[in-house]
Amino acid sequence: MPLTQSREIAAASRLEHVRYAIRDLACVADEVAKQGHKILPLNIGDPLTFDFQTPAHMIEAVHKAMREGKNGYAPSSGVKGALNAIRGEAARKGITTVQDVFITSGVSETVDICLAALLNPGDNLLTPCPDYPLYSAVLAKLGVSLNAYYLNEEDGWQPDLDDLKKKITPRTRGIVLINPNNPTGSVCTKKMLAQIAELARQHNLVIFADEIYDKLIIDDDPHVAIAAIAPDVPVITFGGLSKNYLAPGWRIGWGIASGEASVIKPYLEGINKLLRARLCANHPEQYAIRPALEGPQDHLPEVKRKLRSRRDLTMKWCAETPRVSCVAPRGAFYAYPSIDIPEGDDVFVAELICQKHVMVVHGSGFGQRPGTQHFRIVFLPDEKTLTSAYTAIGDLLRERYR
Ligand SMILES: Cc1ncc(COP(=O)(O)O)c(C=O)c1O
Repeated sequence: MPLTQSREIAAASRLEHVRYAIRDLACVADEVAKQGHKILPLNIGDPLTFDFQTPAHMIEAVHKAMREGKNGYAPSSGVKGALNAIRGEAARKGITTVQDVFITSGVSETVDICLAALLNPGDNLLTPCPDYPLYSAVLAKLGVSLNAYYLNEEDGWQPDLDDLKKKITPRTRGIVLINPNNPTGSVCTKKMLAQIAELARQHNLVIFADEIYDKLIIDDDPHVAIAAIAPDVPVITFGGLSKNYLAPGWRIGWGIASGEASVIKPYLEGINKLLRARLCANHPEQYAIRPALEGPQDHLPEVKRKLRSRRDLTMKWCAETPRVSCVAPRGAFYAYPSIDIPEGDDVFVAELICQKHVMVVHGSGFGQRPGTQHFRIVFLPDEKTLTSAYTAIGDLLRERYR
């Protein structure tokens, strides 16, 4: 008789801390979809699910690269033309002390590599709360503790500087700053950036500046890169094609390392070791980077026009709906309303999927101050779809919490 293995294969215990609420909710939605209901997805930040298209000249550039045989492995840091284009982008962002540039499979991989190259067991990293869950997932994988600092809802979701200062320990190695922010849509003030940079100087920290939404500032205020105002501080600025250039499925991201050369050198050697170990990022898609960054930017005004209209509609609904209040998002495509309900926001969100077939993400999936409840809306869908989703959410709030 053939031998069959009967003992369970256990997953690594460090994965107990890996949560990715945005996709984890999919299990509830799958059940509802199996019953024949169509789900309104206000949960995933993928513009291509809605009325946004990748610019045609970028698609043509990738197609051409494939036809011309750029289908083998690429250099580990990325192809030369694309790296030069990213250096040009760094200069446009005002970053003057660039020490290295590298291309990865999405910002997700930039984060993975940059954190793995820095952190030892026992170290900690300051991450925003609420945060984009990728950071806590990568830290859990590395067995490194999360050291969350609050964003201040009363201050338009700016980082809570006092909390940040309080949380720095001798083993703190860096600060993650998501600007524009996911999930709140806030944009950091220049004064706040300068204060955070000063903390990094005092405590010898690396700043991870996740600026993946830097061209999606809804009201056309300028975006200030923290690396531009702190040229001496070690900063890795993250960017990519997923959001600004509407190509999330291509998995193209990058890191721009800046600061004093002698200070950042050993860390950059560590990053490059890991870049070599995973061979390279997707090759043909890298040929879209130069056309994206240096070619026509015509899609941006249209994208921002849609985002402005959909953000305004969202804010109007929040203002008119009992139990809901919201700080107006200024960048990206997320709103993070607070809800005044007598039960957990996770329960509310699960009910919303089951009863009204609308999917948002609960605040507890991003982390939040104790005693507060929120949910995150992705306001990418068109006005008609958003209006039906908001009507359904309002109905559930009324029916459930009279
Ligand atoms: C703040 C933030 N950083 C990084 C990512 C991941 O981006 P990528 O598609 O480049 O991996 C996302 C995706 O939603 C994000 O919101």
